[in-house]
Amino acid sequence: MSNIPSTRWPDSTLALLTEGYEFISKRCQRYNTDMFKTRLLLQKVVCMRGEEAAKIFYDNQHFKRHGAMPQRVQKTLLGQGGVQGLDGEAHRCRKDMFMSLMSPARIDLIGQLTAKHWREAQKSWQTQEKVNLFVEVNLILCRAACEWADVPLVEAQVKPFTEELVAMIEAPAALGLRHWQGRKARDHAEERLARLIEDIRSNAQPTGEQTAARTMAFHKDVNGNLLEPRIAAVELLNILRPIVAIGRFIVFSALALHEHPPYRQKLQTGDEQMLTHFVQEVRRYYPFFPTVAGIVKQAFSWQGYKFPKGRWVLLDLYGTNRDPRLWERPNEFRPERFESRDINSFNLIPQGGGDYHQHHRCAGEWVTLEVMKVALHALTQEMEYTVPPQDLSFSLSHMPAIPKSRFIISDVQAKP
Ligand code: HEM
Repeated sequence: MSNIPSTRWPDSTLALLTEGYEFISKRCQRYNTDMFKTRLLLQKVVCMRGEEAAKIFYDNQHFKRHGAMPQRVQKTLLGQGGVQGLDGEAHRCRKDMFMSLMSPARIDLIGQLTAKHWREAQKSWQTQEKVNLFVEVNLILCRAACEWADVPLVEAQVKPFTEELVAMIEAPAALGLRHWQGRKARDHAEERLARLIEDIRSNAQPTGEQTAARTMAFHKDVNGNLLEPRIAAVELLNILRPIVAIGRFIVFSALALHEHPPYRQKLQTGDEQMLTHFVQEVRRYYPFFPTVAGIVKQAFSWQGYKFPKGRWVLLDLYGTNRDPRLWERPNEFRPERFESRDINSFNLIPQGGGDYHQHHRCAGEWVTLEVMKVALHALTQEMEYTVPPQDLSFSLSHMPAIPKSRFIISDVQAKP
């Protein structure tokens, strides 16, 4: 039985914090391997990257998710008791609930709502000297998400609730105040949404058919029981929070348009295929979730290495999306690569891999694609704007990444 390389230092937490998204791929390159051993947060871990590693990672026989996420991620980004930590039948039942919300009509609706709130916001941008696109897009997406999910949101709540959702997204890898803000935001939002779930159940709060709020309120688990209100709230946040998270991909789309002007011209012609390829390339090229985590269920061997039961394993999403064996010139932004590149469930994995129902692959991938397309349509065909001088660089050690200036635009006008 062969072994796999180990890092030189016994614990790599500091290296992960300083190298961020590139931590795993740098070591895979250095050791000429697809997997290596180290310790993170003092815990033994195997890090893997690449298409073959993704295939094995998403094999439910070998890996489970319960207990795979560190507390600091559960207490901020994900919450406790949600779909991400379930396995087997319990996971399938809960995941079916999420996927039932993803019909073509519902995907179309989130696109329409995003377009509606974007148009409203754009009117006010036209009267402002400078607009912070990141802040504004987050507000648009919070409004669209709440309307789509049927979560009441009065005007005075828009800003504070958006900020709570953003705080949850930014907290897991943050230290100090930013981390604690994320915990506080989650507690507050869960409490409010748990009350909403109770109101929906008692008919004190009317809801539309097939909306996320109603679906979560009346979903029954594998044993035929309603979810505890706090868990239903966690799941409702698993819809609202990631819709707002798409704002980061929208800012990166705006950055890509700014840095590669020929694509703006192509998208202005309404070329649907180019739009799809552009959106895919934004998701492949720009950093968002660095990794996903699992735990070895039963000892097994793969590529000559024996994975012991209980071992923590990280799959490198960012590194797989930039794996030179899968992507020619991976560090170049080239949407046309998708003209000749077939994508499958394991080679383009910014939102996880595998099957939507059987595995933990992101339930909101189609929503993400639709919302990004609506935003790109608005940015290229409905508005004109200037990008004033600013620091658009982003650090790969800041997770999740975002340009330092957050993307400021000025002179916004409706396109004639
Ligand atoms: C899971 C990324 C948008 C709902 C995930 C996972 C990733 C991810 C990496 C984990 C996959 C795994 O564990 O194997 C993203 C990114 C998004 C996004 C980068 C866009 C910026 C959305 C949206 C929704 C959503 C819009 C809902 C409307 C979920 C849910 C899960 C999930 C419910 C848990 C699935 C499960 O555990 O079975 N997402 N996501 N996500 N995502 Fe997303």
